[in-house]
Amino acid sequence: MAADAPAVSAQAGFVEAQAERVGEGEPAGPDAARRAASAAVHTVDLTRRFGPLVADDHVSLDVGAGEIFGLIGPNGAGKTTMIKMLATLLPPTAGRAWVAGFDIVAQPHRVRRRIGYLPQMISTDGTLTGYENLLLSAQLYNIPRRERAQRIHDALVRAKIEDAAGRQVGHYSGGMVRSLEIAQATLHRPAVLFADEPTVGLDPVAYLAVWAHLLDLRDQGMTILVTTHNMEEADEHCDRVAVMHTGRVAVVGSPAELKAQVGAAATLNDVFIHFTGAVLEQGGEFREILRTRRVARRLS
Ligand SMILES: Nc1ncnc2c1ncn2[C@@H]1O[C@H](COP(=O)(O)OP(=O)(O)OP(=O)(O)O)[C@@H](O)[C@H]1O
Ligand SMILES: [Mg+2]
Repeated sequence: MAADAPAVSAQAGFVEAQAERVGEGEPAGPDAARRAASAAVHTVDLTRRFGPLVADDHVSLDVGAGEIFGLIGPNGAGKTTMIKMLATLLPPTAGRAWVAGFDIVAQPHRVRRRIGYLPQMISTDGTLTGYENLLLSAQLYNIPRRERAQRIHDALVRAKIEDAAGRQVGHYSGGMVRSLEIAQATLHRPAVLFADEPTVGLDPVAYLAVWAHLLDLRDQGMTILVTTHNMEEADEHCDRVAVMHTGRVAVVGSPAELKAQVGAAATLNDVFIHFTGAVLEQGGEFREILRTRRVARRLS
């Protein structure tokens, strides 16, 4: 049956996931099972330790199908670790999670077929052309040979980089690189896209282009889980956000709900400070900040 076929569209991919879900990896109890089945992402006490450090500490979250959901929080709060676990790149230490209805530990292959992952680090190959990078992704995702040219063409058009398809990516602008990376991460039309700081280091024009691309994908039915340090970005584009702090979820809600909780004229920056008690001494380690700056520099 269709279990091993690539999803034909983001919407269909998700619907397919709903239809073929099997007993294997099901959570205990009818309510938990219903939530795991209907949410794009459902986590229960998801935990990841690195030695004595608890990067994610009993995180329980639901992301609805078709939502743009933001993970925000200081450097080192556990956002990337969370995304890596959900993308099946890092095993959890404890707790459970389902993505597009499938258990990330018991059914990783099914999860992988239904997700796209846009890493915090630059993932595209600067020595290849945009077309060649997309061809690699097509091969990686087992897109049938006869469909590849059309899929790549559609992705280039959606990313608005079709005129640069034959150029080496090393000569692309930062916005074009990010658009290409999004195209690569979504070539197989996943149900859920994990985008880790997709706009870091971009100028305002590139920022708008990347968001036009992401919103277009959302309009196709894709669920997008995004991280950002830009509170205006989260406020404008996220249906809901989770504020993370030292591995825990401090609060979840729509930007409007969270701002109302903090004060009449509160901004999302105020929400961030309120729920994280952010002070300069906390936040990420030196090497993380260095890494983010390096990405930003390469894109700018
Ligand atoms: N492979 C690893 N080994 C050891 N510690 C790690 C590893 N990966 C992450 N950590 C630690 O886990 C914590 C959470 O890191 P994570 O990258 O998830 O944070 P983040 O919220 O994405 O931060 P940023 O906003 O800087 O990207 C940090 O203290 C980090 O140093
Ligand atoms: Mg991160």
